[in-house]
Formats: sequence, C-alpha cells, structure tokens
Amino acid sequence: MARTRCDRTAAWAALHAHFDAAGHALDVRQAFAADTQRFERFSQEAPYVFADLSKNRIDAATEALLLDLARQCGLQEHRDAMFAGQKINNTEGREVGHVLLRNPPLAPATSAPAASEFIATEQAKVHSTLDAMLAYAEQLRADASITDVVNIGIGGSDLGPQMAVLALDAFATTGKRMHFVSNVDGHELAAKLPHLRAQSTVFLIASKTFTTIETMTNAASAKAWFLAQGGTDTARHFAALTTNVPAANAFGISTTFGFWDWVGGRYSMWSAIGLPIAIAIGAAGFREFLAGAHAMDEYFRTAPLERNLPVRLGLLDVWYRNFHGFTSRSIAPYHSALRRVPAYLQQLEMESNGKRVDSSGEALPFDTSPVLWGEPGTNGQHAYFQMLHQGTEVVPVEFIAVKHARHSLPGHHPMLLANVLAQAQALLQGKSDAGGHKHFTGNRPSTLLLLDDLTPAALGALIALQEHRVFVSGSLWGINSFDQWGVELGKVLAKDIEVRLASGDVIGLDGSTAGLLARLRA
Ligand code: F6P
Repeated sequence: MARTRCDRTAAWAALHAHFDAAGHALDVRQAFAADTQRFERFSQEAPYVFADLSKNRIDAATEALLLDLARQCGLQEHRDAMFAGQKINNTEGREVGHVLLRNPPLAPATSAPAASEFIATEQAKVHSTLDAMLAYAEQLRADASITDVVNIGIGGSDLGPQMAVLALDAFATTGKRMHFVSNVDGHELAAKLPHLRAQSTVFLIASKTFTTIETMTNAASAKAWFLAQGGTDTARHFAALTTNVPAANAFGISTTFGFWDWVGGRYSMWSAIGLPIAIAIGAAGFREFLAGAHAMDEYFRTAPLERNLPVRLGLLDVWYRNFHGFTSRSIAPYHSALRRVPAYLQQLEMESNGKRVDSSGEALPFDTSPVLWGEPGTNGQHAYFQMLHQGTEVVPVEFIAVKHARHSLPGHHPMLLANVLAQAQALLQGKSDAGGHKHFTGNRPSTLLLLDDLTPAALGALIALQEHRVFVSGSLWGINSFDQWGVELGKVLAKDIEVRLASGDVIGLDGSTAGLLARLRA
C-alpha cells in the first residue's frame, strides 16, 4: 500500500500557493452571491445524514486541490487496505477491523478486492459472538427481576455505550435503569451503590485489556459490595466484555463476551462493548445500529471522492488545521439526547490523531488533531457562543440537528431548529456596527449535519461518518490513527506516585510534585 505524507506531495505546495493567493481571503458571503448553486455544490447526501458544507471557507478550486491531495497521498489505497484487513496499525502490528464488526450476518466477508484470510476467519467469530451477546441482552431484557444494569469501563469502554444509550433513549425498554461508572474517583460508584440492590443488579465489566486500573478498581469495589450485600450468584450478576477472557475468569467472572485486539478501544462499541446498547434497545435495534454504520462504510468505500462525505469532511479538517491554522472545532448537537457526542468525539479524534510523529516515527512539520469541544445547543448559546461570534479566534462549528422530534410538546422543536439555523446564519452573516461592541465580523465557518430522525440506524451512520473523517485526515497526515501511546506515561507515573503517597518518598521527584505530595500527606 503506497502512502505519501501530505507535505511531500505536489498538491500540498499547490494548496499553499492557493491559500496565499486567494484561499485565505475567501468571504463565504461573497461566494454565495457569486454562485447561486453554492448550497447544492457544497451539500452532500450520505446514508442517513445530509450535510451542508456551504458555509465553510472553501470554493471549487480549494476542493479540487484538496481532492488532488487525497489522491496523491494514496487515501483510496489506504482506505481499501483497512477494509481488506491489512495491518495498517503498524505500531501495534494489528489490523483495523471495526468495519468488519458491522458487516451484515451471512454477507460475503467483504466485497473489497482481495479479501484477506484475516477477514475470512474473523467474520465468523464476529457473528457467533454477536449472536451470543444479543441473546444474552434479550434474556436480560425479559428478566423482570433485573432492574439495574451498571456498565463499569472507561474511555472507549464507556464513552460509546454511554453516548449511544442516551442518544437512543426513545427506543429503550422500560424497566431497566442503565448506569455508567468510569472514574476511579470513588464518589462516582459510591453515589450509585445506595440506590442498587444486589439481587436486581447486573454489572458489566467492560475493558478491552481487563487491566485498566480505573475499571479494575471499580470492578473490585462493585464485587465486594455485591458480596457484602449477600449476593452469591456472580455468574448471573457479573459479565465481562473483553479481549482478555482469562483475566476476567481470574477475577471471578464466568459470563464473558469477547472481542479481538484488532478492535481499537475507541472503535469498540460495535463489538461486545456495545452490550449496554443492546440491552437498552434490544437485539433488533442493535442490528439496525450496525446496519446504519455499515451503510456509511459501504458509501465511504465506494462513493467517488468528490461526493464522499467522510472524505469531504476530512479534507476540510486538513484545510482548516494546516492552512487556516484553526486550533479547535466546536461540536454543537441540537438534540439533548446527543449530549455525550462531544465527549465521544473528543476521544475519537484526539486519541486517534493527536500525534506528533508520522507512522514511521518521524517528527511532523505541521499540526495534527484540533481540540474538540462542545455542549448541546441551545445551552452553549448562553455560555460560550459569545466567543464563537465575537472572539479573536475563529472556531469552525459542527452543528448536528434532527428534523423530527420524538416528543409532542408543542413549539419546542421548531424553536430548536430555528435556533440552529440562526446560529449558523449569524456566524456566516455577521452584523456591522460602527460602535465595535455590537459588531459581528461574520464569515465564521460552520457545517450542519442533519438527520431525519434519531434512530439506531441514523446514529450508527453518524458515528461511522465521524470515524471515517478522522481516518481521512489521519491518513493524509501520514500518522497511525489507531494507536494511543500518549496515554501510557501518565499511567506508569500514577502507579509510582501511589506508592510514594503511602511511603512519603519524594526522592527523584520534581519540586512541584514533591511539594504537592507532601501537602497531601500532611
Ligand atoms: O487510556 C486509554 C485507553 O487505552 C483507551 O484507548 C481505551 O478506550 C481505554 O483506555 C480503556 O481501555 P480498556 O478498554 O482496555 O479498559
């Protein structure tokens, strides 16, 4: 697979020349005035998602050059290598197979050319595990004696399931309360336990590695609480979702649902890690969720680059980060059920693309992942949108809206939709005021992702879209988007400091850490 880093292509130099000559000064208001077809040209239908890209600082010349860049970097070959099950996660020597988790049952393993032996063998495992996990979910849903399900996991073993369970609340079964415990801060678990009864609670211990200290600590405390409450049947009240079944067994859990090292933590909610979602919305709903993601996979794999939404979004991300120098992207879901989407996307983008070296370990001479942040609209409007409209820094905003509401309160949904359109319009149009304080510069970019309805399939497609746009920018940047070595150092140091907190040993510590440690021990 031939991959060329973006800065080593002719298109990169051409883009720089284009940016310096005209691209930096593009006024989107004038671009609309000059092109009555701009909305059509810069909007894109994709499975379950319509995207309006027209309020962004791009024109046909910019997009053509960005597409050249994608081709010269070997984006299509890299994408096909992922779908074919090649070991594109080179620093961990692993395939990247989350798309395989969404292949429909009994479908040919993949229609990508040259399906590898990997795909052929893993596909069967995926479906037998999926069937077992969904059968367990249905059994639990039918068991009226279980009222509470507590997922204990962190990072990818928490954010995806938590985000999706909240997002799909309108499809959730009644009679089961879903809880998520992630933080090693005991306040989180301690606040939940008094509201639970051992005989009516199931704990799902979700950890790819089954070694993550936060999860192991919470799992041990949950088990101790369960036993102290007189709980006996751990096979019934604990299940593990993990690639490390022996460690789960050693912990005393016999009910296990496995997955594989080729599923990255932040890409894992389509695997056994998605069990809380399946318990909440049922087996059929979970299969729809997978089908929505699969539809986006197929679209990403086959649509021409110029009409391919993950590609267009990923290219825009590169344009903004490396040419305009925008440092962050604000995520504004105008649907309260999508309130954990910004947190979910933070891990997806920043853990994937927050890298300073390319996949061969060479330091990069350009910036990579932006900072992602955000809160649901309209709340954000009354908090930090001031900065988005009038601050010194330009922050591209990604609005997410849903056409149809799933409540019947009159007036609310039109008001919500009016607000999302108004905010995007205000960012674009601005407002002149000679006095300064009431002046809005305008020409502030935004994208609107619009779903018809927030269904399991639409959510699956929306998240797969985000995964693939992260793939696109990471691919052009020449990095490995599928490792996360940057999280390791802090974990190692925390172990050392935990020992020192007990002993008081500060030898070799920097002055600040030594001073704080002494203060905490005093
Ligand atoms: O610390 C980062 C990380 O490794 C994430 O990539 C992962 O999602 C999370 O920790 C949890 O890991 P595990 O599922 O192995 O407990």
